[in-house]
Amino acid sequence: METIEPVEWRGDAAGGSVWLIDQAALPQEERWVECRSGFEVAARIRDMTVRGAPAIGVAAAYGVVLASRSRATTKEELDALAASRPTAVNLFWALEAMRPLVPDGPERCLTQARSIHRADVENNRRMGALGAKRLVDGMNVLTHCNAGALATGGFGTALGVIFSAVEQGKQLHVWVDETRPRLQGAKLTAWELTRAGIPCTLICDNMAASLMRARRIDACITGADRITAGGDTANKIGTYSVAVNARHHGLPFYVAAPRSTFDLSIASGADIPIEERAQGEVTDDRKGRVAAKGITAFNPSFDVTPADLITAIFTERGEIAPVTSARIAEVLG
Ligand code: MRU
Repeated sequence: METIEPVEWRGDAAGGSVWLIDQAALPQEERWVECRSGFEVAARIRDMTVRGAPAIGVAAAYGVVLASRSRATTKEELDALAASRPTAVNLFWALEAMRPLVPDGPERCLTQARSIHRADVENNRRMGALGAKRLVDGMNVLTHCNAGALATGGFGTALGVIFSAVEQGKQLHVWVDETRPRLQGAKLTAWELTRAGIPCTLICDNMAASLMRARRIDACITGADRITAGGDTANKIGTYSVAVNARHHGLPFYVAAPRSTFDLSIASGADIPIEERAQGEVTDDRKGRVAAKGITAFNPSFDVTPADLITAIFTERGEIAPVTSARIAEVLG
């Protein structure tokens, strides 16, 4: 299956630049945005031109190539990248993989960034093939947010599992949570699935429980932004309710995520930093104010699903089930 790659390096190490498909403009418009410094990549991560944990990591890796070219501001550019968004650990993982190479210059940094990018796509294909074994022909699968090619170096994590199952010849139907407040499901997941010709139906987030009760959902699968040593999983706000509802209705709840999404330095999900974004994402739409004047809004961008609600986590190194610290250590080594 052909995949989209939302982050590209164009040109050579000395004069090239980072290009990002503008995810804030999709699906209405397919346009690409150029970044010529680490500062610009940081700004595009912050404003969510590029979003999704692994895609943020890949963009940051290329951002370090740009930062390594401008000796006077390299440190500030790396700091800006690290301060761009707090929850997805792939960002910090990529920065740590790149940092030691900065003194070697842009050529060496570009080789490393390209290899981080290629490895992400390969890992997604591997975990996709693994997770697809759990999906049965004819299933109705619910997903939340966008964990597709757009959210990664390419191919996707949760959607990668769905793409792999379809490649294996299984017929699936996907329920797509719209994913308030930024609508990554309605805009991005729906775009990817319809492009791939996979049957899918959009629902508002608050419809999932009643569909589960009516036995119209057979399994749920999402990506992740940070997974602790014990398996507690931060993902887009609303994921926790999907997992609670799945447990109540006796349905499997799966997570697909690469090794770079695990933060083994954290034991409990309570210690994962949760980004809080602008109130306007909740109170306004594109045309302006929707909520009543004077109301304040709370806008945490992620929530944490406790490990015991997760049936299995698919990684490029194997399946983690049951989701326990012992099994995580065994699979991740
Ligand atoms: O705020 P976003 O759009 O960056 O949040 C993205 C998610 O929560 C995704 O589900 C997660 O990063 C997994 S991406 C493969």
